[in-house]
Amino acid sequence: MLAGIAGKVAVVTGAARPRSIGRATALRLAREGAAVAALDIARPLPGFPDHGVATADDLAGLVDELRALGVAAVAVTADVTDEDQVARAVEQVTDSLGPPQLLANVAGGSGAGFGAAPVLDVPRAEFDAVVAVNLTGTFLVSRECARRMIEHGEGGRIVNVSSQAGKIGWPLLGAYSAAKAGVIGLTQVMAREWATSGINVNAVCPGTVDTELLNPGDLFVQFMDASQPGGFAAWVEREIPLGRLQQADEVASAIAFLCSDDAGYVTGEALNVSGGQMMA
Ligand SMILES: NC(=O)c1ccc[n+]([C@@H]2O[C@H](COP(=O)([O-])OP(=O)(O)OC[C@H]3O[C@@H](n4cnc5c(N)ncnc54)[C@H](O)[C@@H]3O)[C@@H](O)[C@H]2O)c1
Repeated sequence: MLAGIAGKVAVVTGAARPRSIGRATALRLAREGAAVAALDIARPLPGFPDHGVATADDLAGLVDELRALGVAAVAVTADVTDEDQVARAVEQVTDSLGPPQLLANVAGGSGAGFGAAPVLDVPRAEFDAVVAVNLTGTFLVSRECARRMIEHGEGGRIVNVSSQAGKIGWPLLGAYSAAKAGVIGLTQVMAREWATSGINVNAVCPGTVDTELLNPGDLFVQFMDASQPGGFAAWVEREIPLGRLQQADEVASAIAFLCSDDAGYVTGEALNVSGGQMMA
């Protein structure tokens, strides 16, 4: 067990989708003894029918699993890009579980399908939507939770999910790279501004994670098989030193560490969790 998580109130955004990093994070924090508010939009995103297709049943099923682990848990349906919904969501968490002490901002994604297009071809609406879910959502939920943490006076932990594409500009992922780089910048500013309130703020930068977002129905693997010299296996060997796709649990472990007492002196970091794919 990691010290410092049991008995705390954790908010995890982007928690509903099967196989997602948010879901794995909610379950991991519950196994460490936290009460968990599992927050998700729990419906297809407007303008992005292929992205983040989680349902209310997914969210309710997760909450049953969390409770079966012996912790208090609540489902919160909200769009992280909507300021009023975020305010209501954090109020709901505070009323039902108490003020948030741990926050994992996991909700995000890269847009329609793989969201891959050269900047010259990215429509304004798509750029705005990708920035909204990854960056504005992180800002809104962090601000609302930090207000409660500061009021409560016991500090807290915030972990934002950026990406290796936030560390370096990723061709064909202009909006996503920009938004995830923004998440790292925002993480550093919040870490500096809230340090004296005892709130540590960090980011994790996953690599290539085998979730529905990246690899729906094994499509990513099939795409690499068809498009890369030597297929998927050769691509993995070339690009990922640890030689395999990452599992959502492996991001959740890093998030849990950053929420724990063991990471008490870590703040403002953007930790690669990428099997060596990103080392910058
Ligand atoms: N999968 C990867 O390879 C990878 C790599 C690096 C970073 N990431 C990041 O990790 C995070 C999780 O990715 P994933 O692969 O688990 O994705 P996923 O699509 O499996 O899960 C995302 C979840 O976020 C929810 N969500 C989306 N928009 C929302 C909104 N506006 N409000 C509330 N909830 C919303 C979705 O309903 C879904 O449950 C994202 O921020 C993503 O950018 C993923």
